[in-house]
Amino acid sequence: MRLNSRQEHRASDELVRSLLEAGALTPDWAETFRVVPRSMFLPDLVWAHDMATGRSVSVSRSNDPAGWERAAYANVPLVTQWDDGQHTGSEPGAVPTSSASMPSVVAAMLRDLDVSDGMRVLEVGTGTGWNAGLLAHRLGGGNVVSVEIDEAVTDQARGALLRAGLHPETVHGDGGAGWPDRAPYDRLIVTAGVRAVPPRWLEQSRPGGVILVPWGTHYSDQDALVRLTVREDGSASGPFLRMVEFMKLRDQRLDWNLFREHVPEFPGDADVSRTTVALTDLGDRYEPARFVMGLCVPDCAQVINRSDGGTAKAWFFDLTSRSWAAAVFRGGEPDATVYQSGPRRLWDEVEAAHRWWVGRGEPDHTRFGLTVTPEGQRVWLDDPADSWAV
Ligand SMILES: C[S@@+](CC[C@H](N)C(=O)[O-])C[C@H]1O[C@@H](n2cnc3c(N)ncnc32)[C@H](O)[C@@H]1O
Repeated sequence: MRLNSRQEHRASDELVRSLLEAGALTPDWAETFRVVPRSMFLPDLVWAHDMATGRSVSVSRSNDPAGWERAAYANVPLVTQWDDGQHTGSEPGAVPTSSASMPSVVAAMLRDLDVSDGMRVLEVGTGTGWNAGLLAHRLGGGNVVSVEIDEAVTDQARGALLRAGLHPETVHGDGGAGWPDRAPYDRLIVTAGVRAVPPRWLEQSRPGGVILVPWGTHYSDQDALVRLTVREDGSASGPFLRMVEFMKLRDQRLDWNLFREHVPEFPGDADVSRTTVALTDLGDRYEPARFVMGLCVPDCAQVINRSDGGTAKAWFFDLTSRSWAAAVFRGGEPDATVYQSGPRRLWDEVEAAHRWWVGRGEPDHTRFGLTVTPEGQRVWLDDPADSWAV
């Protein structure tokens, strides 16, 4: 059974009401959210992603129209492509590569973008086209450009936008290069995570303009949304606002294959020691400890494997050498066993980062900010002029 249009209106109103109540949606966006619903941009097969378990469940419009519509109006991310389109069928693939983001995340990013009439906006990561459609409804299609790297995804978004009667310019290309034809932009919004802000985005922004982008380190899959204001000298700087998680720009994804040869046998010739740093000290997803350790331990990937018996193994892999470390935490034991191999002592760096963070009063991500210049990027704590750098 499909929801009839009255039920759909009710679902849409309910979503808008709850987003307003939560403060994610600002009143100036409410009408746009009502008349440009996410459902208009979704393909027939989507995967509702459970943020808590990390599991994705397929929902097909033809097999389960009511379930599909419930998903469309729910505050959950919906995966729309796996493995850059190589994966087919209704089972989830290995890596989600395109999605319609959570409505609350979309609304809050538009709030933080702070647009006003007449502004010209570049979006990187068209995906379904929903966000580009919302911006086009609010600012006029002529003021909005959206770039998408995947050709099939671009085509689907173009079709959906056309059916919705919205006309932003959609470009199939690498958004890392921006879109110079329509520069300078007042606002640049990136709906994919980055590990390095491409200099082209600075070049194509107007002084005083804003770049809103999920930024992080390879230490973790999570990002912190940063709001950069572009200066006259072509640099940009601003605070981290909150933790989010986005699929990454294609050429900035972490390739786990890099670590295939790191641990030929465990523990091999690794040095063994003990630590009193607890598993919880490493920080869970979205927790400041994990974000800060990522800042302090550069070029390092980290993953935690948990077993049913209560044992957890935290792995650390160096991106620049074959160094690795592992800390094994057994439930009930006061300290953990540490293994370190290679020229870089990754666990020692993690411990030092944790000590530094505790010593500074455990600052969370909102006390940090990012400065980007054509030469590179630097993270600061509290003061943009701070010399503390990553
Ligand atoms: C989370 S989705 C975007 C959601 C979208 N804004 C919406 O409203 O549905 C991220 C998108 O970024 C795209 N992407 C990844 N790397 C890119 C790049 N270098 N340039 C442009 N798009 C890219 C992916 O193909 C994917 O479609």
